[in-house]
Amino acid sequence: MARVIWGLATSHVPSIGAAMDNGKTAEPYWKPLFDGYAPAREWMAGHRPDVAVIVYNDHANALDLDLVPTFAVGTAESYEVADEGWGRRPVPPVAGAPELSEHLVRRLVDDSFDIATFHGLDVDHGLTVPLSVYCPDPGEQWPCPVVPVLVNVIRHPQPTAARCYALGQAIGRAIRSFPEDLGVAVFGTGGMSHQLAGARAGLINTPFDRMFLEKIETDPEALARLTREEYVAQAGTEGIELIMWLVMRGAMDERITRIHETYHVPASNTAAGLALFENGGAPA
Ligand code: DHB
Ligand code: FE
Repeated sequence: MARVIWGLATSHVPSIGAAMDNGKTAEPYWKPLFDGYAPAREWMAGHRPDVAVIVYNDHANALDLDLVPTFAVGTAESYEVADEGWGRRPVPPVAGAPELSEHLVRRLVDDSFDIATFHGLDVDHGLTVPLSVYCPDPGEQWPCPVVPVLVNVIRHPQPTAARCYALGQAIGRAIRSFPEDLGVAVFGTGGMSHQLAGARAGLINTPFDRMFLEKIETDPEALARLTREEYVAQAGTEGIELIMWLVMRGAMDERITRIHETYHVPASNTAAGLALFENGGAPA
């Protein structure tokens, strides 16, 4: 049977990928952020999953705003890296895991999540930057195939945080019912507080982010009770991406073990957070 072995929550700021692609990670602006990632990267390199389920949003790169599914799953054999206007990132295409994808789709629909499916999809920074956070030097190929799970966080009305948490729980059940013996990592991407446009552009809310980093482990139900309006008010119009962390959390056990956490302001316009959890409680 497949099982969730760890969960990674991480911001997916495009310039974090650009810093890696352009050899700038040791520069003073970026070094503290990448130093903060180092212990998580080392642990993940020693705990490699067979497949990753990556919960992310497209930023009007692969999709346009005429058709924005609330929840969708990619079922392709592979995914090209999207050209977001300045050329494709120099990273490998992303191999899919179509059998696990199809299984998730079937189980989620049976579980009353009427999700869309993508049989072809280019993946943008929302997915490739978290892969780079996990694996900075993939060479010719990323270390594992990926099931992309897309959440609408860009067009009103976004799904509720409670629905995202419930989707994660359904994904967890679906993974556990997959007959192959696979270790699965689940990524929740986006956040933390940021707003890219409008009168509050540049908003950072560190107390809210710190609360969120704590409760994503200890009290996800409290985070699931917040309304979308509260997410936007507290974390910014793009900070609502944090609801995708709840999908990751829902797929994990009630008890999880925090391996590493880091928080750094600013990365571009964003408060960049990372939290890595092993599934299950710490041994007594
Ligand atoms: C930035 C952050 C994001 O989450 C994103 O999707 C795009 C840009 C930023 O801070 O620049
Ligand atoms: Fe984003």
